[in-house]
Amino acid sequence: MIEEKFQNAVEIITKNDRGGYTVPTSKLYPHQWNWDSAFTALGISTYNKTRAWQELILLIKAQWKNGMIPHIIFHKNDPNYFPGPNHWQIKSNANTSCHSQPPVLASIIWDMVKNGNNYDLKKGQSLFNSLMAYHEWFFSARDPNNEGFISIIHPWESGRDNCPDWDLGLHNVNVPDNFGDYVRCDTSHVEISQRPTNKDYDKFMSIVEYGRNCNWDPKKMYDEGPFLAIDPGINFIFLKANKDLLSLAKLFNYKNRVNKIESWINKLEDGCQNFWNDKVKAFTAFDMRSNQFCDAITNASMLCLYASTGSDKQKNYTIKHCERILNSCVYGMPSVDPKHKKFESERYWRGPVWSIMNYMISHGLEHEGEYSLAKRIKDDTIKLIEVGGMYEYFNPHTGKGLGGHDFSWTAAILLVFGRDSSNLKFTTNK
Ligand code: GLC
Repeated sequence: MIEEKFQNAVEIITKNDRGGYTVPTSKLYPHQWNWDSAFTALGISTYNKTRAWQELILLIKAQWKNGMIPHIIFHKNDPNYFPGPNHWQIKSNANTSCHSQPPVLASIIWDMVKNGNNYDLKKGQSLFNSLMAYHEWFFSARDPNNEGFISIIHPWESGRDNCPDWDLGLHNVNVPDNFGDYVRCDTSHVEISQRPTNKDYDKFMSIVEYGRNCNWDPKKMYDEGPFLAIDPGINFIFLKANKDLLSLAKLFNYKNRVNKIESWINKLEDGCQNFWNDKVKAFTAFDMRSNQFCDAITNASMLCLYASTGSDKQKNYTIKHCERILNSCVYGMPSVDPKHKKFESERYWRGPVWSIMNYMISHGLEHEGEYSLAKRIKDDTIKLIEVGGMYEYFNPHTGKGLGGHDFSWTAAILLVFGRDSSNLKFTTNK
């Protein structure tokens, strides 16, 4: 049974292959996405190393001169996707979007090198400088005041596009008069009840327009842009990526890089304390424009365990939240605490379960020695795939598959769980 699912996962990824890169799913997302490609490459590495490295090489080929690796790469134009290449830059058919996404790349490369052979080591080595430049860019563009945390300039940069974490900030984003003269494509592929509202979409597009008008100048976006927020997800993923970058630097014996990366790690470890929300006893998002915490506990709050950071007390609170939230739904880990007033079981990042987040959370729990919770999350992910199908995200109460179907990263995570555990039990009985 599980073997069939693995086979199906390989078939889905192969079907989404567009020649050197893999789309997340056909129609809804017909381009190359940054963190999707990274997770997908990890999945592919379980059965075809050459193709896996090719995925990453093509992603990194799109790196900007300033080090940024964009969130979308438009290898081809596709009129059925919005916002496409001509919406990002003035008078240009950009071949990328103009901000980034959660930088899981170094961690994926470290995983492929650690679990690989000399071929993987050489490939990893050839991409090391690009990773350094990418991380440098995050510090200079998204933490220009050297405070030890990075801030996102658009909710899409968090990868958790429509989470209630961004509601505070979006509330203050001005939508220019007569705005809305555009046609969304996502809702012709997926029911609107599973996607962001039109009101939110107007706000997303207003930020894109602001960015386009200032040529995405990082300083202007940071100092004056319509939206600026601390995302616990991207910060913890970045911290973990720096720890994995350090492992690579040590393995390759790049002595002169080790000190620099260590200083980045120390800075980020201290910086995380800025978004510990003592009121809810969790790491939560913080809106930098209105100086307010968001009070939702999300699956990104749990990633402090993945980055292995925070005091023992903070980690314990987080583990307790994990347990409590898992007990409040049939399949974990929902993207928002079901107790929170903004929880919605089927709308995008406002409640549903995402396999990639489960992968990182389960790693974090294992690292803390919380093996049974980690196993529960892995088992839930596998059950969801069986109950709901290989979907983009899932209803945490019913297991219904939501959003795009035949989804690359969901297939990839199944393959990685398979690689990491030889005795996966595949049952639907809860
Ligand atoms: C959605 C998700 C984002 C993902 C993209 C492609 O926009 O929010 O995280 O990268 O889809 O799958």
